[in-house]
Amino acid sequence: MSKTVFVTGGAGYIGSHCIVELLNANCQVIAVDNFVNSVGEENGESAALKKVEIITGKSVTFYQMDLLDITELDAIFHKHKIDCVIHFAAMKAVGESMEYPLLYYKNNIIGMLNLLEVMERYNCYQLVFSSSCTVYGEPTEFPVTENHSIGQNITNVYGKTKYFIEEMLEDISHSNEKWNIIALRYFNPLGAHPSGLIGEDPTKPFSNIMPFISQVAIGRKTVLTIFGGDYETPDGTGVRDYIHVMDLASGHVAALSYLFRKHDRIKVFNLGTGTGVSVLDLVKTFEKVTNTVVPFKITGRREGDISIMYADAKLAETELNWKAKHTLEEMCADFWRWQTMNPNG
Ligand code: NAD
Ligand code: WQD
Repeated sequence: MSKTVFVTGGAGYIGSHCIVELLNANCQVIAVDNFVNSVGEENGESAALKKVEIITGKSVTFYQMDLLDITELDAIFHKHKIDCVIHFAAMKAVGESMEYPLLYYKNNIIGMLNLLEVMERYNCYQLVFSSSCTVYGEPTEFPVTENHSIGQNITNVYGKTKYFIEEMLEDISHSNEKWNIIALRYFNPLGAHPSGLIGEDPTKPFSNIMPFISQVAIGRKTVLTIFGGDYETPDGTGVRDYIHVMDLASGHVAALSYLFRKHDRIKVFNLGTGTGVSVLDLVKTFEKVTNTVVPFKITGRREGDISIMYADAKLAETELNWKAKHTLEEMCADFWRWQTMNPNG
């Protein structure tokens, strides 16, 4: 594709995997991150991006910077001719967002506003934004299409920042016809690059299911707590649409190529597999693939959890020419390889 792509949050989990695919697609990458939640930092350098360079044999231009610092952001746009932006940078811990709402609103919303302001200043109007299936709240129809209502029953501040930003993007796209924006609503990302060199930092405080499963599998925790066994699902446990992080990564390259092909001002796509998987299905698949045992107990539901969430992924297939390829087995195997190769992150 040979574009210069500005990637915010490039040292993070999804950002670093996406940069692999951008470099493989012959893009030049300028990545920024403030390391608030990145995967490894060494003297202002991103350990994850060093691994990305090993994987791809190509180099990444990296700046340690905070999106809240608009002067520094402006300086980077001044220095480089940027064709398009992928905006991953955000704080994403659901529980923490309820404890520190101001921090989350400031970081996620002001970070986005600064970026939009600087993009406009430098005549750069192509943007891919990391949204989330969380904007659908508790869905009422399955599979969940992009036309499902958003913004209702979102139970946490993190999720609201995604919803508010989508609304802002909608508004600015109507204000100036130059804007060309795609919001990608990710379902539940899982797995790691198959090399085992990059993945999500297993030492960070977590609440997502996969790190818990693997901590039990390696014996650091004795038992997995499954939140809720009385949902209206085939086995009573919660259902999600788990998607391999490398599929998400290729979805971003597909989205960028769409932006340079078509001008819709704003488009929204689900990035999911279209398949619902229960917590018990996930645990059983993990045990089979990794040849481990994961003892579990089923307790009450977790506050704020929804019962079922899986995507209708057809729009991305027809319009972006993209489809998730990796299986649940590969997600588990790749996560496990990364975890065992990097027990300390
Ligand atoms: P991550 O925390 O690994 O990556 C985000 C990166 O952004 C981190 O490296 C962090 O240091 C950086 N960052 C945060 N605020 C910043 C700021 N003000 N300035 C500069 N850098 C900043 O998270 P991820 O899982 O890679 O998620 C990437 C994006 O995808 C986020 O916007 C997230 O909300 C969204 N998303 C994630 C998931 C998921 O389950 N992982 C699901 C849906 C959407
Ligand atoms: C998955 C399933 C839990 C932990 C979160 C965010 C959402 C989005 C994706 C960013 C559920 C169950 C979990 C455990 C369990 N992120 N579970 N025991 O809740 O779908 O969504 O990540 O946008 O905003 O809220 O993901 O991995 O926490 O849970 O039984 O110890 O696993 O109840 O059914 P979730 P998750």
